Amino acid sequence: MATQSTVILGTGSFAPERVLTNADLSKLIDTSDEWIRTRSGIRERHIAGDHESTSDMAVRAAKAALDDAGLTPADIDLLIVATITPDLVLPAAACLVQDKLGVSTHAACFDMNAACSGFIYGLDTACAMISSGRYRKALVIGAEKLSPIVDWKERTTCVLFGDGAGAVVVGASDEPNIGLIGTKLGAYGDSAELLWIPKGGSDSPATTESIAAGEHFMKMKGKEVFKLAVRAMDEAARDILEQHGLSADQIDLVIPHQANLRIIEAIAKYLELPMDRFFVNVDRYGNTSAASIPLALDEAKKSGRIKPGDISLLVAFGAGLTYGSALIRW
Ligand code: UT7
Repeated sequence: MATQSTVILGTGSFAPERVLTNADLSKLIDTSDEWIRTRSGIRERHIAGDHESTSDMAVRAAKAALDDAGLTPADIDLLIVATITPDLVLPAAACLVQDKLGVSTHAACFDMNAACSGFIYGLDTACAMISSGRYRKALVIGAEKLSPIVDWKERTTCVLFGDGAGAVVVGASDEPNIGLIGTKLGAYGDSAELLWIPKGGSDSPATTESIAAGEHFMKMKGKEVFKLAVRAMDEAARDILEQHGLSADQIDLVIPHQANLRIIEAIAKYLELPMDRFFVNVDRYGNTSAASIPLALDEAKKSGRIKPGDISLLVAFGAGLTYGSALIRW
């Protein structure tokens, strides 16, 4: 029996109102607009307010995606929030979103922690659950309030990150070979300490000393992450193209994780594709982790960069280090 296709029925995104520019940052720490732009391509990022949580941003993006799909919260029976910054350790952000959005208590709700690759992991999971026939319509949200886990005194990391959310609604279609046509997921668990939060988990709960040492903030070995990111994203892209008998040139638009313009340019070079085949908004949002791809996808779609029949390639890497790629035929 042929497996049902799973398609994206609507997209939405949300970014907090407050914009923090490179010039603003240069007043807080020893950095400059020139350094940040040339090393990362970032010009500004959005920062959530004190009373604006990950689940609040997720709800805003989800509402926009539901409107775009012409659906209501009552239609949803599966809700996945990809995030590394849930409002609380317990319960899952997905349950808070369910409540705030008014999704049925019969819907399955859970979080997905695969860092910046989380949205692709969540999308793959949702599509598999829908093609099993046991779920009908899913909301897959990537939402992050990274600003509280960033050390604003650490100039090598704080300039890179921002807050925001993106969402898609996924459902089944009888049309064959459309929607999510393939995914490739993986991880290099042996490189976990390249990008991590050393303390505050169950293995080493936060103490006065660990907090004073800033060990509850994100730590990153930038150069090593950069190299592994390029390798992992290039491989994830090549693997999925090969699996589906496609050449890079057949991809209409690549929507990469928006971490650093130089990483995206390196992938373009390896895939021998011009930069105009890549959707880039890292300049306006910085790295929003799991929110980055759905936010970019929504902007790409709403700005007319994606048309019926197009093939898009999503590709990401993140803490873990995880990686993932997905092919979508629209
Ligand atoms: O989703 C995964 C998220 N992580 C990433 O995507 C990170 C991947 N890595 C990167 O994007 C890059 O490695 C960075 C943008 C983080 C850094 O770029 P880099 O070219 O690897 O710079 P670097 O770390 O080698 O630093 C070069 C210099 C150093 O000074 P010295 O030692 O050469 O005197 C740094 O101290 O730049 C200095 N520096 C800064 N200067 C001004 C580091 N951060 C800053 C800053 N402003 N914000």
